[in-house]
Amino acid sequence: MDAKRQIIKTMLACFLKYLSEKILQSKRFKKLFHRFLQVKGPSVEWSKIHRPPEDSIQPYEKIVARGLPDSVAESLNKLVVVKLNGGLGTSMGCKGPKSLISVRNENTFLDLTVQQIEHLNKTYNTDVPLVLMNSFNTDEDTKKILQKYTHHRVKIHTFNQSRYPRINKESLLPVATDMGMTGQNADVWYPPGHGDIYASFYNSGLLDQLIAEGKEYIFVSNIDNLGATVDLHILHHLVSRVPNGKRCEFIMEVTDKTRADVKGGTLIQYDGKLRLLEIAQVPKAHVDEFKSVTKFKIFNTNNLWISLGAIKRLQEQNAMDMEIIVNPKTLDGGQNVIQLETAVGAAIKSFDNAMGINVPRSRFLPVKTVSDLLLVMSNLYSLEAGSLTMSQKREFPTTPHIKLGSSFNKVQEYQNRFESIPDMLELDHLTVSGDVTFGKQVSLKGTVIIIANHGDRIDIPAGTILENKIVSGNLRI
Ligand code: UTP
Repeated sequence: MDAKRQIIKTMLACFLKYLSEKILQSKRFKKLFHRFLQVKGPSVEWSKIHRPPEDSIQPYEKIVARGLPDSVAESLNKLVVVKLNGGLGTSMGCKGPKSLISVRNENTFLDLTVQQIEHLNKTYNTDVPLVLMNSFNTDEDTKKILQKYTHHRVKIHTFNQSRYPRINKESLLPVATDMGMTGQNADVWYPPGHGDIYASFYNSGLLDQLIAEGKEYIFVSNIDNLGATVDLHILHHLVSRVPNGKRCEFIMEVTDKTRADVKGGTLIQYDGKLRLLEIAQVPKAHVDEFKSVTKFKIFNTNNLWISLGAIKRLQEQNAMDMEIIVNPKTLDGGQNVIQLETAVGAAIKSFDNAMGINVPRSRFLPVKTVSDLLLVMSNLYSLEAGSLTMSQKREFPTTPHIKLGSSFNKVQEYQNRFESIPDMLELDHLTVSGDVTFGKQVSLKGTVIIIANHGDRIDIPAGTILENKIVSGNLRI
């Protein structure tokens, strides 16, 4: 009888938790929607934008030059690694969470993350946990996979971000008709961007739990950024920097902008504070200026180091301030909708003593397309303890520019087109278009362009070396 009562009690507690979470989510959505209705015009006045002060963005080399103390394990024990895991693999033609796509030697993004943290914990005899922020799109599949890490030396926690209703663009009414108590087509809901991390982490109770366990900082990054490994120098800087007796509560890793990164958010000084400026906030007349690599020299990598205590304080004071990003979409049925989102880096202005660190490009290695995947699968990188590093055999530090055509859009198609990944150590530029396949042990050097016209097919035979070549029509090398 007691056991039965216990089961009913547990079920009731679960239901009440679910219900209160739904009510909280509904409140948060209403607040966001009200803010959206109130906002008139651009969120920044262009004339008030200033270059960040000299010392607010420090070069990584300067941080490294300070060295590491013997107590680095102590700092590591205060750290939690958080990966943003709300996104799907749709842009690479995959179903399910993006983090479960194989990226190197059959290892998924998630496998590599677990290997990296496990390596840290074993090397320094520490207990750095991994936290995954899942969305309703990724939670179920991710949790099923987590069982395989049970025997790894990494504690893994998850929490779910919010699920908000998409809004009809014309009527501004939610496309969904309730807050999810009854099942509805998934198309009417969306995860509201990674800025949702603060409220969802706090409300999940996990933030308090980690603080109670002695954790003080999180290192947050996109799960698809293979360069986002725990950096001990940045951690040490965060833990020890005490300007004016106050701790730095937020570090944003930024890196030098190239012409290919014109859309990334940049750091500016605004109203006396560091602020993230995203292209969506820039008035039309200034978009070219924003994109220029001379005026705005750096961009946000979304590798962020944040104080847990500060997140708690700002959530409790209702003081986390992030601009709303209005993301327009067209649903399968042709209905035009908008979704209101926020970005995790936009909260930088709410934190005390925030700063940027200008890190080497190697800390920003995102895999967004199949072309990116080809790079990280190739011999340009070597894999050690879950981390990818540029091969010593490459003579210059830049990665080649790779453009694979639409026949390579889906991971599955791409895999069928390469018998093995070509040698790319001396490649600068590769463009492939049309029905092209690669045999084993092909080597690509310099600039290589392969174009199979409509109706043609080009099979690059095993062992071919292509150096500064254009191949088109039928295969002629
Ligand atoms: P995206 O892949 O969507 O964004 O998410 P992006 O193109 O890098 O650009 P920004 O950073 O949004 O400007 C980046 C990471 O955030 C997660 C994704 O899973 C990915 O790891 N994400 C995104 C969430 O966890 N929740 C969201 O609502 C959106």
